[in-house]
Amino acid sequence: MVDVILGLQWGDEGKGKIVDYFAPNYDIIARFQGGPNAGHTLYVGGKKVVLHQIPSGVFHENTVNLIGNGVVLDPVTLKKECDTVAGFGVDVRKNMFISQRTHLILPTHRALDKASELQKGNDKIGSTLKGIGPAYMDKTGRNGLRVGDLLDKNFTTSYIRLRLKHQRLLDNFNFQEDITAWEEEFFEAIEFLRSLNVVNGEYFINEGLSAGKKVLAEGAQGSMLDIDFGTFPFVTSSNTTTSGVCNGLGVAPQKIRDVMGVTKAYCTRVGSGPFPTELHDETGEELRKLGNEFGATTGRPRRCGWIDLVALKYACMINGVTKVIMTKADVLDQFKKLQVCTGYEIDGKESAYIPFQMTRHQINPVLKSFAGWNQDTSKITNPADLPVTMKEYVAFINQFVGANVSHISNGPGRDQIVTV
Ligand code: GDP
Ligand code: IMO
Ligand code: MG
Repeated sequence: MVDVILGLQWGDEGKGKIVDYFAPNYDIIARFQGGPNAGHTLYVGGKKVVLHQIPSGVFHENTVNLIGNGVVLDPVTLKKECDTVAGFGVDVRKNMFISQRTHLILPTHRALDKASELQKGNDKIGSTLKGIGPAYMDKTGRNGLRVGDLLDKNFTTSYIRLRLKHQRLLDNFNFQEDITAWEEEFFEAIEFLRSLNVVNGEYFINEGLSAGKKVLAEGAQGSMLDIDFGTFPFVTSSNTTTSGVCNGLGVAPQKIRDVMGVTKAYCTRVGSGPFPTELHDETGEELRKLGNEFGATTGRPRRCGWIDLVALKYACMINGVTKVIMTKADVLDQFKKLQVCTGYEIDGKESAYIPFQMTRHQINPVLKSFAGWNQDTSKITNPADLPVTMKEYVAFINQFVGANVSHISNGPGRDQIVTV
């Protein structure tokens, strides 16, 4: 069967750490969507590593990792990352596979991303500028190049043809930057990519499943950034929710068993777009400082606020979440009072629903207060030792969203997690 770990908020919930924690229980860890817009942080032997393209199971000896067809792959980022993990003694030629159907991010996709954001001005998405949107546009527009195309002797011709098309678009945007250096890096990285294990991902996964292998699908971004169900247009360009696993790996829906949704004990968002519980005051500042809330990919400060249970309940519904994993509970250790959002006041009326277009309304969060636990929880390993106030906080969330928090993460370290 396939289990899934994905984000329930606006990304950066701590998925990397959680995948790394669960990885030893699985044979195959597979990324199913997104690209190097992701930044998944893990600690290996006390050293911090941020993965953008490689699945977060890569540091475990008995697992193999698959970059699925639903991912968009930047060969340059991948090559750098392979060097990083090689520094930890990991040989990706032994434990990593890439689907031949995975679409490539070209240097011109990155340029188009930048040009599009510049043109949007104040309405910009706040993209990571990694070329994600343009690469997925070429996929759905049926123009993109895929990893399997690298083995085709006409690859360079196809590349030049697509590049010309992109150049016309860039000219339209009046984009002047010289991308020669990006292209040089790209072609070097392409050579490297040719030396890796390229497979037919859908057979790889399904034959594995038939042989009794256990698969863990690793999501990137978060449910509220989903192209269909997120806060459109301030979203990413892929399905970050459970359905993305089927399309992004080629597995049938009935093969999916547990959906483990990851949420922070509070909420963050990086980039533009609606965020009803955002705090613009010193409490927001405090969350950013204590939670070290700076983007793992871009270094941008993350916007911070209280946990949004309207959005969390919605995300659990869309994903069919069977277990919730709450991360960064320790970040709330010093707060005397906590708040959770239980409804939206939209144009003067209270609602328990995510509106069609959040940006059209003035949304005021309806907040319920809780007493903080006000003690250091980062060293707790036994659930019985969790503060009563934390248990009350979690019990309310369980009851409100109709979910079951199965694990509480209380620090960035590999072992800082309590099974409840
Ligand atoms: P991802 O994109 O979902 O994998 O999350 P990121 O790696 O972008 O951001 C999560 C950040 O929180 C990283 O710096 C992690 O090291 C850190 N982190 C993860 N879990 C915890 C936790 O339980 N407590 C604390 N304090 N930090 C955590
Ligand atoms: P992980 O996997 C947080 C955000 C960007 C921007 C919007 C669109 O680390 O959780 P894109 O580059 O996809 O065109 O950006 O989505 N975004 C993320 N925010 N975590 C991520 O990934 C993100 N990937 C994209 O900030 O608002
Ligand atoms: Mg991240």
